[in-house]
Amino acid sequence: MEVRKAINTDFAEILDVHKAAFGEKKGPEIAQLVDDLFTDISASPSLSLVAVEKGVIVGHILYTKVTLQGASQGLSCQILAPLAVLPDVQGKGIGRKLIEAGLRELKMGDVQLVFVLGHPGYYPRCGFIPAGELGFEAPYPIPEEHAGAWMVQELFPGNIGSLKGQVQCCHALNKPEHWRE
Ligand SMILES: CC(C)(COP(=O)(O)OP(=O)(O)OC[C@H]1O[C@@H](n2cnc3c(N)ncnc32)[C@H](O)[C@@H]1OP(=O)(O)O)[C@@H](O)C(=O)NCCC(=O)NCCS
Repeated sequence: MEVRKAINTDFAEILDVHKAAFGEKKGPEIAQLVDDLFTDISASPSLSLVAVEKGVIVGHILYTKVTLQGASQGLSCQILAPLAVLPDVQGKGIGRKLIEAGLRELKMGDVQLVFVLGHPGYYPRCGFIPAGELGFEAPYPIPEEHAGAWMVQELFPGNIGSLKGQVQCCHALNKPEHWRE
């Protein structure tokens, strides 16, 4: 299994991975989000990685730019969304490899903080910790019972504790429907 940067010709296959992974109900909505994110200039810089097995794309991860209100313009932050692995090959570490490869690449690009809204049982395995209690507000309020799903990871020490504020995503992700669950 190889993890590499996505290229233009991967586009249709990437959308299919999201449709299959998220299922009939959520799949089309997530595939549309990926499509929107790919063409959203406010998402840039972004990082799009695919996991490839025997020439077939089996997983995809997207990181896009976010800003932290009140922080200096020089602070580089990203959000992980979305991540998908084909159902047949889930549970084999592909998701984790995509997350970790992305974090390594972002670190090389001097990204300081990475946010994610996702399963609180999954992302802490890759170093994410609850963000709300550290003073990082999501773009839309996260219901108390899901507070643990809003997470952050710092790629260089020093920002957690000294920085606080509301996170703003690119246009495509900064819509309330993406923050309801
Ligand atoms: C979530 C997802 C990307 C994980 O990819 P993966 O390649 O299966 O993950 P990994 O193999 O790295 O990790 C598997 C482990 O994560 C756990 N896991 C998977 N989904 C989980 C979830 N929603 N909540 C908690 N743990 C989860 C598995 O139980 C497994 O645990 P184990 O190692 O103790 O057996 C994949 O299951 C998927 O595409 N799901 C549907 C889409 C989705 O929910 N995307 C994430 C949105 S936040």
